[in-house]
Amino acid sequence: MLETPSPPLQCVFSGIQPSGTLHLGNYLGAVAQWVTLQHRTATPIFCIVDWHALTVWQDPAALRAGVLDLAASLLACGIDPQKSILFPQSLNPDHVELAWLLNCVARFGWVSRMTQFKEKSGKNREQASLGLFAYPVLMAADILAYPTNGVPVGDDQRQHLELTREIAIRFHDQYGGGDSVAEPLLIPPATLVLPTGARVMSLRDGNKKMSKSDPSDAARIDMTDDDDTIRRKIQRARTDSLPFPETAMTMQDRPEVANLIGIYAALRGESIESVMAEFAGGPFAPFKEALAESLVETIRPIRTRTVALRADEAALVRMLTDGAGRARAISQPRLARVRQMMGLL
Ligand code: AMP
Ligand code: TRP
Repeated sequence: MLETPSPPLQCVFSGIQPSGTLHLGNYLGAVAQWVTLQHRTATPIFCIVDWHALTVWQDPAALRAGVLDLAASLLACGIDPQKSILFPQSLNPDHVELAWLLNCVARFGWVSRMTQFKEKSGKNREQASLGLFAYPVLMAADILAYPTNGVPVGDDQRQHLELTREIAIRFHDQYGGGDSVAEPLLIPPATLVLPTGARVMSLRDGNKKMSKSDPSDAARIDMTDDDDTIRRKIQRARTDSLPFPETAMTMQDRPEVANLIGIYAALRGESIESVMAEFAGGPFAPFKEALAESLVETIRPIRTRTVALRADEAALVRMLTDGAGRARAISQPRLARVRQMMGLL
């Protein structure tokens, strides 16, 4: 199912930005996988990456609320703070210290190749924050601060993970093998991407990723949408005038249709082929109805739990602070070793 690395998954780490609402792409691409991994690995680490959010301007009050909203949503999706460590990045300063050290290991040319920076800075590159450019090195530090060997993410993060591996390898080339060459201190982690759900596209344009920053609310299903909103968005989701595809071949060049089928398959844990067999050749209306109902069934309990959990802000802050303490207990001795290897006092 997963592109599992050859050694067993000892430590899983992943991150998510607290800007905007958790959407279906985040859920199917990342969070649903995180929930499953809690049963496959000891204590996975999940980080709400508020420092990453600040690479573009954030309203301070909205950022603070966003961290708590996201914490409530993640718990509602099934992240269990007894099984996992869940914490905001900014409560573990080890990440920024390691990021600085790794800024001095990563090459300007490597970071310049990152397509996410090119997309996000667009024509306005000169005005992009330095943080937006350096973002992938902070992401590498997030991961390498822990003995991470697997990172569950959506497809869009592959390039950042390749960079993380390059940085880990270059660190040991420059500063020696650490405790053992066979088991380096900074481990090049495997990318864990699911075959379905890894790339959920916009409901309005099948060539664009479903994204928190899409100005059109109709392009996205949020994990806080109510039943009627979900039904309406699916009813209005773009398709085309051809009948429901019967084979992968007849789905080619129909990105909106392929996206809806992919979402349905991911929600139901079925293969694309079996979904095609179920609706082949027919009109879209019954498929869209079944898709909307699957979404409603998945999202309704998550939405209800999110609202209840969000109401107790003090409990959320306690849980996040506790998570940060547990995270720091792992990263601190590792960072001390990195400092020593690089010649710092
Ligand atoms: P972000 O919202 O950019 O912080 O992303 C958090 C996680 O969700 C990352 O693992 C992303 O790869 C994943 N993700 C974001 N958007 C999508 C999408 N449209 N389809 C699949 N995964 C996504
Ligand atoms: N860059 C990721 C995104 O935009 C978020 C992220 C930050 C992350 N640090 C991470 C993901 C570490 C995995 C591991 O989605």
